[in-house]
Amino acid sequence: MEKTALITGISKGLGKALALKFKKEGFKIVGISRTQPDFTIDGYYKTDLTDFSQIEKVSREILKEWNVDVLINNAGIGIYESWEDMSINDLRKVFDLNFFSVIYLTKLFLPEIKKRKGSIINVSSVAGKLYVPYMGGYCASKYALNAFSDSLRAELIEDDVHVLNLIVGRISTGFSGRALGSKKPPSTPFGSSPEKFADAVYRAYLKKKREIIFPGWYRFFIWFSKAFPSIYDRLSYKKWNDHSFSRTSR
Ligand SMILES: NC(=O)c1ccc[n+]([C@@H]2O[C@H](COP(=O)([O-])OP(=O)(O)OC[C@H]3O[C@@H](n4cnc5c(N)ncnc54)[C@H](OP(=O)(O)O)[C@@H]3O)[C@@H](O)[C@H]2O)c1
Repeated sequence: MEKTALITGISKGLGKALALKFKKEGFKIVGISRTQPDFTIDGYYKTDLTDFSQIEKVSREILKEWNVDVLINNAGIGIYESWEDMSINDLRKVFDLNFFSVIYLTKLFLPEIKKRKGSIINVSSVAGKLYVPYMGGYCASKYALNAFSDSLRAELIEDDVHVLNLIVGRISTGFSGRALGSKKPPSTPFGSSPEKFADAVYRAYLKKKREIIFPGWYRFFIWFSKAFPSIYDRLSYKKWNDHSFSRTSR
């Protein structure tokens, strides 16, 4: 029987790539974002996920019309700023979208997903496993998201609900250019494409994996930061502050 995936942040970037992949694999696609996607999906719901009354309203509408098998919590935003200069309002916006909207949506859809023995897929980040100077606000939101995914998975052990957490490295979507804060991120040597990412996510979904790191080579940096934290601190500080590094790969 045809399954339905609900994807947040469907209008562009990774959300769009995931929608096209799951659609190609035969899913009905229902999506949420503030701007309408430029491709055809089965149900579009214009919503600002930082407004919790909108989350509640849209969830009621979607639950009335669709049987959601897979919830993909993908919408997210970055913030590049030192802790000293961080605007608390901006930080709240980041947490509202990257963390609290995910918790709220998941709570509202969980009874339905339990009934359907479905999946919850959270789009986290390498920044949730690897702290980065001037990205601390974003890192904190994704570390929190990882804790949510892992503890939720453990709570759902007897419900046959699959929780997949995606530890994502740099992929060219324009994400950095839309981030809050005043700092410009340095370039990353290798990126990957949204399409390759979506293929990897679909494979992980089929295999009911707990977590994937994409691209896989980011494992090395995560390991390095834990094995040699002082060296990592100095190298990452230098990368952000040394103007001989090229400034951007937005
Ligand atoms: N790209 C990367 O390098 C990278 C790396 C690691 C993790 N990630 C994570 O991957 C996810 C997707 O990132 P991306 O690269 O695809 O970013 P993106 O291209 O900027 O897309 C973000 C999506 O979220 C939606 N969105 C933003 N604010 C929203 C709001 N208030 N309410 C509802 N929807 C909102 C946007 O749609 P509208 O503007 O139309 O609302 C858009 O569809 C994020 O969670 C991000 O943290 C990305």
